[in-house]
Amino acid sequence: MTSKVRTGILISGRGSNMRSLIAAASDPAFPAEIALVISNAGNAEGLKFAAAAGIATKIIPHKAFATREEFDRAVNIAFEVADIDIVCLAGFMRILSDWFARKWEGRLVNIHPSLLPLFKGTHVHEQVLHAGVRVSGCTVHFVVPELDAGPIIAQAAVPVEVGDTPETLAARVLVEEHKLYPAALKMLAEGRVKLKNGQAVFAP
Ligand code: GRF
Repeated sequence: MTSKVRTGILISGRGSNMRSLIAAASDPAFPAEIALVISNAGNAEGLKFAAAAGIATKIIPHKAFATREEFDRAVNIAFEVADIDIVCLAGFMRILSDWFARKWEGRLVNIHPSLLPLFKGTHVHEQVLHAGVRVSGCTVHFVVPELDAGPIIAQAAVPVEVGDTPETLAARVLVEEHKLYPAALKMLAEGRVKLKNGQAVFAP
């Protein structure tokens, strides 16, 4: 069997998307393995789950570093030492430096709970409800220096229901996130999508 693509995950919180990636990667046929989970927050719930699943975990507290880039350099070293090929952001609540985005260009992906390029940033479901759109969803995209602006790898849509609150909409979107992220990581690990000249290029 060919060797699996070593994948690192960055989290800050509950890590439900991380769990969906770990679950998918537990299938022997999945092309990627989750080799390291790093959190900037020592109390991130997801860390316990990853450790219990036998995955290496590391806490790198951002507050221990004077600048954003110094923190990012520490994260980079941890991934390099672990021989990581692909990094997935999964509820990672820090903005990465341009340096980190460039260093991992084409190998760094994020999941965002809207149909990008609409509703970037935070308080996404509030933005969606405020705008009155009738469809929302989630997006997996390559990370580039500009926030939530990288080339799109995969998307899934959900209806916005009458009476939705940010919480009910978030829950409906999250169900799709948990399917979309493993599917996108599979595509990336199999080389079926690549970042070329600032665009997502898909295998025919
Ligand atoms: C998800 O909705 C994800 O799209 C966004 O932050 C949330 C993280 O949730 N970036 P979890 O930590 O994966 O449960």
